[in-house]
Amino acid sequence: DLQREKYRPQFHFTPPAKWMNDPNGMVFFEGEYHLFYQHHPDGTTWGPMHWGHAISKDLTHWEHCPIALKPDEHGEIFSGSAVVDWEDTSGFFGGKPGLVAIFTHADHYPDSERPRQRQSIAYSLDKGRTWITYEGNPVLSEEAITDFRDPKVFWHVPKQQWVMVLATGDRVLFYTSSNLKQWNVESEFGAAEGSHDGVWECPDIIELPVDGGMEGSKWVLIVSIGDNPQCPEGSRTQYFVGDFDGSSFTNDASPETILWLDHGRDNYAGVTWSDAQRADQGKLFIGWMSNWKYANLIPTASWRSAMTLPRVLFLKKVPDGIRLVQEPLAELQQLRLGAKHWEETTIVPGQNLLSDAQGDIYEIECEIDPGDASEVGFKLRKSEREETVVGYNVFDRKLFIDRSNSGEKHFHEAFACKHDVQLELHNGRLKLHIFVDQSSVEVFANDGEIAVTDQIFPDPTSTGMELYVKDGEAKLVSLKLYPLQSIYS
Ligand code: FRU
Repeated sequence: DLQREKYRPQFHFTPPAKWMNDPNGMVFFEGEYHLFYQHHPDGTTWGPMHWGHAISKDLTHWEHCPIALKPDEHGEIFSGSAVVDWEDTSGFFGGKPGLVAIFTHADHYPDSERPRQRQSIAYSLDKGRTWITYEGNPVLSEEAITDFRDPKVFWHVPKQQWVMVLATGDRVLFYTSSNLKQWNVESEFGAAEGSHDGVWECPDIIELPVDGGMEGSKWVLIVSIGDNPQCPEGSRTQYFVGDFDGSSFTNDASPETILWLDHGRDNYAGVTWSDAQRADQGKLFIGWMSNWKYANLIPTASWRSAMTLPRVLFLKKVPDGIRLVQEPLAELQQLRLGAKHWEETTIVPGQNLLSDAQGDIYEIECEIDPGDASEVGFKLRKSEREETVVGYNVFDRKLFIDRSNSGEKHFHEAFACKHDVQLELHNGRLKLHIFVDQSSVEVFANDGEIAVTDQIFPDPTSTGMELYVKDGEAKLVSLKLYPLQSIYS
């Protein structure tokens, strides 16, 4: 019973059983959102990779489907993407539109330990239910490059051709194609740009309006970087803002600038949905809510890992440049079960406005004027033994999550931690939008300017909460607390 299982997320996507890592092949077609994922169906740790599959109409409730792709004579199925081939450029669909998946086949060079990674394709004649691997696989190989994976493909409208961005160790390569079968290399980006704390993986490139289109549009290149034993942060995701002309990407920022997509520890390998046109022109994104540092060790029993909440990405002009903002998907509001509402209240040290509130899955929206307090925030999933703190340090102007005493934590030494990120107040006010599930907390601050995503493993009975303030009084402008309904109820 998924509703009663310890730590089982109640409104985040999880595999029904066994291991999951990266989200793959997200595509919207004929009214359905597809989500595939890196899956080891025979174990709860990473192993021979398949593509698991689920379908949703609202990105909130999911129907689990049979495994879509499994290891074959070319190897295991690593990460990749899927597209709608609207014009049947591939010739797979008899002139009609259909779905094509583009992924990495991973095996070894003959008689060698050296990994071999090559790109292959598969297509579906039944709206994604079953998949046929192309007889000409692999469609792209490059013996000189060992790390050669995670193709993300889209149709570039001005040049009327397919573009693939591929992770190749310390950079990405761009390829183009007219039919998804023959690929030509165009350019590379990144060997001397951004963070190289880990190997580059799971790239994506998207065009987004700036400030709702008032300032034109820009291209965002998303690149995940793998774990590095030297870095406490583990695996994480960076992005670059710039221009893309259909064959090469140029970075607006200086090469040493590093922009993080999420400032928590558990949002990795995320990419966007193909063909999900939105009226607001945002792009739908989902990430793997774990970290390679400890993903294989998290204390869940029958399955491992969840996805982040789906988010909508936008670009916003701020004093430092153009930055990603992310908003939790509006469809999630259907899970709200009424609201408790507070307004215009003074918060005083030692008093807890939320002393009567209880919850294990809920959403908080609040606006606070920290006044003369030194720190203000929430203690969540709280009991006498444990708590997770989401707070704002007023003097340092830093938003933090402290999960050092959040519940089970001894499975890895890097898990228990407090981490923070610079966040400026807007007109003297702090806005927080927080989602708490059985084993996660996600914070969207100042209308999505900063996102922080962390796993936590509190005891199911730790359901208390507190709104706290230190060394002064703060003003609560408004606070809404929404208990959420389980997607399994
Ligand atoms: C990222 C990643 C990808 C690879 C996949 C294998 O988490 O390492 O680069 O394709 O996972 O499962």
